[in-house]
Amino acid sequence: MTTTLQPEFIETDLGKIAEIQGKLAIMVDDEGKLSQAARRVNRLSRGAVERFVASGTFADMKEGEGHVLSFPAGMAAEAVQIVKLPRRPSPGLARRAGAAMGKFKGKAPLTVLAGPMTRVADIALGIVLMAYDFDARKSGDKDPAEPLVIATNRPEEAAADYAGPGAVADGVFFTRDLVNEPSNILTTTEFAERLVALKSLGVTVEVLEEDELAKLGMRTLLAVGQGSESPSKVVVMQWQGGGKEKPIALVGKGVVFDTGGISIKPAAGMEDMTMDMGGAGVVSGVMKAVAARKAKANVVGIVGLVENMPDGKATRPGDVVTSMKGDTVEIINTDAEGRLVLADCLWYTQDRFAPAAMINLATLTGAIIIGLGHENAGVFSNDDDFCKAFLKAAEAEEEGAWRMPMGPKYDQQLKSRVADMKNVGGRPAGSITAAQFLQRFVRDGQPWIHLDIAGVALTKTDTDLAPKGATGWGVRAIDRLIRDSYEAG
Ligand code: BES
Ligand code: MN
Ligand code: ZN
Repeated sequence: MTTTLQPEFIETDLGKIAEIQGKLAIMVDDEGKLSQAARRVNRLSRGAVERFVASGTFADMKEGEGHVLSFPAGMAAEAVQIVKLPRRPSPGLARRAGAAMGKFKGKAPLTVLAGPMTRVADIALGIVLMAYDFDARKSGDKDPAEPLVIATNRPEEAAADYAGPGAVADGVFFTRDLVNEPSNILTTTEFAERLVALKSLGVTVEVLEEDELAKLGMRTLLAVGQGSESPSKVVVMQWQGGGKEKPIALVGKGVVFDTGGISIKPAAGMEDMTMDMGGAGVVSGVMKAVAARKAKANVVGIVGLVENMPDGKATRPGDVVTSMKGDTVEIINTDAEGRLVLADCLWYTQDRFAPAAMINLATLTGAIIIGLGHENAGVFSNDDDFCKAFLKAAEAEEEGAWRMPMGPKYDQQLKSRVADMKNVGGRPAGSITAAQFLQRFVRDGQPWIHLDIAGVALTKTDTDLAPKGATGWGVRAIDRLIRDSYEAG
């Protein structure tokens, strides 16, 4: 598993700059004013920094971007990155600049000469999030976690500022590792074991096995997993950092692999369905983050872990199953399985915890990728205030989120001839009918948000704060929502 890079914050020592090994990053504002440390690098390299800053390349650079000078004369460093950044950047800009440095760092040791720069903790977070590399399944040398040193005028302050973000980075990495992991390794059993390990952080963890799920009546969830050799499981995690108040509940779709079942998917691209547990991955990452930073809030995380496989025992198209709620579902298409998993998990969550608010996350529909691409997750909600609070948190974290409409008219598409509803609503508004399906398992008056993260959980190109692959989208936004809305008092 990836270990989180731990930045070390130290006092700037101008006398030692010439001897620093590995890579070096300095920051210059868009007027080209050099800090003391940058001036020192400039002098050692016989004016290279000043010449670069006077060039058209520097003029054309956007704020937060970097440019690398290799093997500078007069210094031990192998390369110096000059990042264009004002002395007092916004948090988002500081993180994106940090990401440019994280990209530059790669596996080499990096020293950042931050000097009088503010938002040092945000810069550090950006570096750490972008320097992530999932190499657990590659043979050969593993990431030796080469050090990250940040020289600043206020090291104690920066280290204290970084404690919270560092804990959240731990959560993001937990999510990314789970989502990047192949499905032969991350079986339902292995997933549950990794969640049980959160006990060491003070999280209460229960694993509900198939016989208990059957007793609870979770037949729509079990219908998805019944064609697999891996047993279906529901894992219940609780972090009790608050008082007696009702918890915020997070519910995740954890389909460890989605073949589509008997309604089997085409071969091309099916390997991507190893990420179909992305919702459960985010729930797990948030639980790790709130526990690691000892959040003063009550948070429950519930994940439905199943594998959707075709088999002699698998659910057939046309089968009718009864949910824990009691409503019956005609399973027209076994590839619309995520909503079947969530239906029972949502009902169980409300039954047991009566949460103050409930958010579910799922890589639910391909249609949300058609609608929003990889820039925004689809946000569906029955509660304007709750939804606004979430969107505000997502915006502050620069995690793309876009509210989608809902409404009873869409329910027409879910009418079944033989059961209370069918599990698909046809091609029009595919993401909305999926949300309408979920809403049938949300009690009246229960504040609820459904996040369709199919487009943002995993990307084929780098995003602002993540290298290509699993992004961990949503861990920061939800952690911030918890901080802002549930820990304020
Ligand atoms: N896991 C998929 C959705 C998905 C697609 C996630 C692409 C990530 C990338 C989901 O279970 C699914 O198969 N949805 C179907 C629903 C349809 C059968 C109504 C889809 O989107 O095609
Ligand atoms: Mn599917
Ligand atoms: Zn799926």
